[in-house]
Amino acid sequence: MSKIKIFDTTLRDGEQSPGVNLNQLEKLEIAKQLERFGVDRMEAGFPASSKGDFNAVKKIADTIKDTSVTGLARTVKSDVDTAWEALKGAAEPCLHLFLATSPIHMTYKLKKSPEQVIDTAVEMVSYARQRFPQVEWSAEDASRSDWNFLAQIIERVIDAGATVINLPDTVGYTTPLEYGKLFKFITETVPNIDRVSLSCHCHNDLGMAVANSLAAVENGATQIEGTINGIGERAGNAAIEELAVALKIRSDHYPFHTGLNLKEIKRTSDLVAKLTGMYVQANKAVVGRNAFAHEAGIHQDGVLKHASTYEIITPEMVGVASNTLFLGKHSGRHAFKDKVKELGINLTEEKLKEAFDLFKELTDHKKEVTDDDLLTILMEIQTEMASVNKYKMEMFQVQYGTANIPTATVLLKTPDGNTVQSACTGQGSVEAVYKTLDSLIQEDLKLVDYQLKSVGGGKDAIAESHVQLLVNGFAVNGRGSAQDVIEASANAFLNAVNRYIVQQNSTNHQEVVK
Ligand code: KIV
Ligand code: ZN
Repeated sequence: MSKIKIFDTTLRDGEQSPGVNLNQLEKLEIAKQLERFGVDRMEAGFPASSKGDFNAVKKIADTIKDTSVTGLARTVKSDVDTAWEALKGAAEPCLHLFLATSPIHMTYKLKKSPEQVIDTAVEMVSYARQRFPQVEWSAEDASRSDWNFLAQIIERVIDAGATVINLPDTVGYTTPLEYGKLFKFITETVPNIDRVSLSCHCHNDLGMAVANSLAAVENGATQIEGTINGIGERAGNAAIEELAVALKIRSDHYPFHTGLNLKEIKRTSDLVAKLTGMYVQANKAVVGRNAFAHEAGIHQDGVLKHASTYEIITPEMVGVASNTLFLGKHSGRHAFKDKVKELGINLTEEKLKEAFDLFKELTDHKKEVTDDDLLTILMEIQTEMASVNKYKMEMFQVQYGTANIPTATVLLKTPDGNTVQSACTGQGSVEAVYKTLDSLIQEDLKLVDYQLKSVGGGKDAIAESHVQLLVNGFAVNGRGSAQDVIEASANAFLNAVNRYIVQQNSTNHQEVVK
């Protein structure tokens, strides 16, 4: 069984999902979890795209020591230099250079001839190799490129020092048979191909990203690129958890193994969903809420008699535990600390104390505190949501009833330390609160997306809200949790505004890459 390397791009291609913008601490938490999951390489971002991305890549490269860290760059020297500054502290720094090779991209986007594209790729790969021990070169839009041209440029780029060649299906256009044939052609045609790892990278526009990636490994690919929960540009990327489980369950068909710890799948998926606000649909393969639920009577009967009748993946295999009760009102600091450790979260003593206080507060209202609840609290602490309280809600009150107009009153502490107060009406309670907050906050605010879900089950479940706001024209996400849905919604709204202010202060706001 030969090894297939897993290249995770949740923090780069995944973060390009519309509406996702993670801050540095959130990216770091995901990176640490990817390391625990056992990916071979993680793409931490695109250092030249913004100061914020640069800082996040640098922080991840300096922290993660058991996984190779890479960053994306265009084929320009300044991108390579910037990427090196961000990545040089990594255990195994890798640069991911990309340049389009399809006629459509070369003609209309790059306005370069095929010869110019070859020259640029060769020049930049050899420039990058002067610093980076590992350079991956991606033929952007490979699946719509001329195969003979691809073979020619790949040979030249390998001679220039590339260590990994990636053939992306950038627009999610290919089919398993066609993509497999492309990999077979390249492995059979390019004379020096055995000197590099050959990688596949599939987008899911036609819903075939996982199938296409598996076809690639059947035909010579030795690395698969993808994201957790399949998040990414447009319809997303190949979902790593689906690939990992498919390779495991059908090892009779696919004679390959990965270095992934499948038991970390659920935790990785949950963390990415929580921090990005991109929750997985209930029927999502492997990690959806219903992935192991058997509804039909005949199925339930079969599973009770013998699980394998209808169950090909066990929940335990992917780390889905029944959401057991864990600690309650009487649990002490010691038990709490042990549980935090068991969840794989490292906290300083100070943050542990902060988390314990929040936990105690929760147990006043909630009898049964589950792992999911705890993870929600811990993520608030770990990603320092509380310490970005530029605006802080001192008090709010909502009047709501079927016979009256929803009205909210809010007392708000502003970044300059003053306290302001206002009241507004709305069509519903959340709108009333949002209008009141809007009237008290100086920035120009527009709500773009609003989501609300319960964490875990039960009548006393924690509510978690995600919003996306346009703050002075910049897209910012916010996350908030509370036992009350309106309070969780208000917290998410304020968190987005506060994140904008913090980003502004550190000139971290997203800059568009031209
Ligand atoms: O999909 C794609 O082509 C990419 C490249 C940057 C590798 O993400
Ligand atoms: Zn991509």
